[in-house]
Amino acid sequence: MIKLGIIGTNWITEQFVNACDITKSFELTHVYSRTTQKAQQFIDDLKKTEIRVSTDLNEFFKSDDFDTVYIASPNGLHFGQAKLALENGKNVIVEKPSTSTVREFTILDDLAHENKLFLFEAARHIHEPIFKKIQEYVDDNRSELSGATISYMKYSSRYDAFKAGKLPNIFNPKFSGGALYDLGVYTIYDAVVLFGQPDKVGYTPEVLSSGIDGSGSLTLKYPDFDVNMLIGKTKNSYLQSEIYFNKKTLLMDSGGDITHIKLADENKNITTIPTQKSDNPMDSEASEFARIINENDQETYEKLLKYARIVNRILEQARTSAGLVFGADEEK
Ligand SMILES: NC(=O)c1ccc[n+]([C@@H]2O[C@H](COP(=O)([O-])OP(=O)(O)OC[C@H]3O[C@@H](n4cnc5c(N)ncnc54)[C@H](OP(=O)(O)O)[C@@H]3O)[C@@H](O)[C@H]2O)c1
Repeated sequence: MIKLGIIGTNWITEQFVNACDITKSFELTHVYSRTTQKAQQFIDDLKKTEIRVSTDLNEFFKSDDFDTVYIASPNGLHFGQAKLALENGKNVIVEKPSTSTVREFTILDDLAHENKLFLFEAARHIHEPIFKKIQEYVDDNRSELSGATISYMKYSSRYDAFKAGKLPNIFNPKFSGGALYDLGVYTIYDAVVLFGQPDKVGYTPEVLSSGIDGSGSLTLKYPDFDVNMLIGKTKNSYLQSEIYFNKKTLLMDSGGDITHIKLADENKNITTIPTQKSDNPMDSEASEFARIINENDQETYEKLLKYARIVNRILEQARTSAGLVFGADEEK
């Protein structure tokens, strides 16, 4: 059983702990929160007992009642917390995007290797059976591959507060917020896992008054085709995402939360490709992380880390090419 500590008490952590329970491979033992009250509320909501609470991060990481931490704090805090975890001998599962800069990613990558620990970026969707089905189709038809258009725009529940003059973490450059780092990370993962590392990256954002991107269009250039992406947190898009194979097109209902896939053939007939979709979108990643840890599957681990390295590099290239500055850029 993998003993689990968690950071962050929002709904996403609850979803991850529920996914861990489904795998029967993790046992939640320790919750860190800035306040005891929030930690206790989180534990009560999960109907769990005998779970230790810490409000001091050093005390949390020095404890020996967990070996793996799941970090779901605002993006800008991931690096410092993940670094402390690795320095204290804990495996890390950190929410996407794991870091704000390539420099930060490299430090974590090196620390994980030096200490023989696991560092996972929680890009949940690439572990789902529906994504594997897309990957299978792309692999079988790679010689026909001729580009993609990927869309992922969701009006953020926090955008109203932003428009009312508040500064929620996800719209704050201090916490590495914005459409690219929040939702673009999914569409970039799509491209990196399916098509590999692009040659060139270009990002055109709509910049909000706080200095982050509310939405934007991102192009990844590959030697033989382009992948165009629309991402945004200030509007809802109902566009399909598409992968082109000359006269055939694979259709996905979303770039980041894929629930249906279809194939349009050369005669424009559209058929649904049967797939499975779990109620909890995080259970596939939770069981894969547990399997890799338990079996010490270094080959799969290194493959995932390589994806994360490329994705984090693309995020930084896209952001800096558009002149978007984060608090983390100053912490050198
Ligand atoms: N994979 C997915 O499907 C998915 C979905 C949503 C979010 N996420 C990721 O999960 C992470 C958290 O996102 P979120 O929307 O839950 O973030 P959030 O609500 O801004 O913060 C998450 C938690 O971090 C702590 N926190 C908040 N503000 C803080 C501050 N100023 N200083 C220190 N701690 C603070 C809070 O826990 P305490 O009050 O208990 O300390 C809070 O519950 C992000 O990296 C995001 O990208 C992933």
